[in-house]
Amino acid sequence: MRVALIYNLKRDIGTESQLPVDYFSEYDSPKTVQSIADALRANGCDVLPVEADAHLPQWLRTHRVDLAFNVAEGAPSENRESHVPALLSLLGIPHTGSGALAMALALDKAKTKQILRYEGIPTPAFQVFRSTAEPLDARLHFPLIVKPNREGSAKGITVDSVVRDRAQLRRQVHLVLDGYRQEALVEEFISGRELTVGVLANGHLTALPILEIDFAGCEHSGEYFYSWRMKEYQGNVELGLVPTFHCPARLPQEATRYIQELAIRAHRVLGCADISRTDFRLRDDGTPFVLEVNPLPGLDPEESNFPMIARGAGMSYQELIHAIVASALSRARDHRSPAAPSSHAAWTLIDVGPGSASTEVSVAPEPAARAAGLP
Ligand SMILES: Nc1ncnc2c1ncn2[C@@H]1O[C@H](COP(=O)(O)OP(=O)(O)O)[C@@H](O)[C@H]1O
Ligand SMILES: [Mg+2]
Repeated sequence: MRVALIYNLKRDIGTESQLPVDYFSEYDSPKTVQSIADALRANGCDVLPVEADAHLPQWLRTHRVDLAFNVAEGAPSENRESHVPALLSLLGIPHTGSGALAMALALDKAKTKQILRYEGIPTPAFQVFRSTAEPLDARLHFPLIVKPNREGSAKGITVDSVVRDRAQLRRQVHLVLDGYRQEALVEEFISGRELTVGVLANGHLTALPILEIDFAGCEHSGEYFYSWRMKEYQGNVELGLVPTFHCPARLPQEATRYIQELAIRAHRVLGCADISRTDFRLRDDGTPFVLEVNPLPGLDPEESNFPMIARGAGMSYQELIHAIVASALSRARDHRSPAAPSSHAAWTLIDVGPGSASTEVSVAPEPAARAAGLP
């Protein structure tokens, strides 16, 4: 099988550059692209790597491929992650991962949150600012966090993004509007644990064990959540940016299952395909909140959260890449749209470590939002 591996590579912005320091953070390193290519080859694929730039349409017309493995960010724009899936759909080339609509919705965090709210999936209270003059919604309570609405990899998110009064809020909203040329998403800051849940599809949806990221050991770095510095320099002992990863998360079984169900529902309501990773904060009172859904999660074999989760589930990196391909191929065979309602009310929750049996459970389509049952 001939597989086009479509990516956008990180570039060195150089010291003279006018570009913000986090400009290329979402793009993939050569190591990640190489690792995916190696895994595809080990699975028996003939791999043709190609950059997602303006030459891609012509390249796709001149190279016959059976499948595209898509990890491309696309060209900088408000719908960049949709570029490649839309092009592949236009050309009728089957591809891994979500289609253009789910990519665009998930990139827009506020739109995602509107859908989550409509579906009864808990997400922090929020407001979108298009100017610094907008009054703060009286229902929002400090501390708040101010983020660019359409970025990933914690771009634009620093410890200063957490604001405790109106003056700080105004300053951070201005920084986002000015520095990232897009609206600022202001959310209530959820104090509690950091969790992320990987979902894989193949006929039915499987939630992998929850990954908990504990920042307690990073205290003297000044960082205490998954900020840009924390992600960019993760593991840097000198800077003290050494979070501890627990997979499965240290949670009671009932809370684990509920959070996994929320991740599956989030994947489904956004119409994601094959793979997604949903980020959560678990408030100290035990209520989980979805922060965002990532249909294009990082796939660095060592550093990215999804491959860590796969390891926690007892899957090798090669098996993870194989699972994504298998799901895409089965969709292509079925001619099923990713968002099409499927016959499966059942899904799989894998809630313990390697070697454990997974459980098929049925969950009511819209369980009411509730606390996760923690003490
Ligand atoms: N409302 C919030 N409450 C607490 N922490 C938050 C909140 N929003 C974001 N964060 C922190 O910032 C990190 C990055 O935010 P997220 O919305 O997931 O954006 P990104 O797409 O850049 O990953 C989160 O993983 C979390 O640590
Ligand atoms: Mg995130």
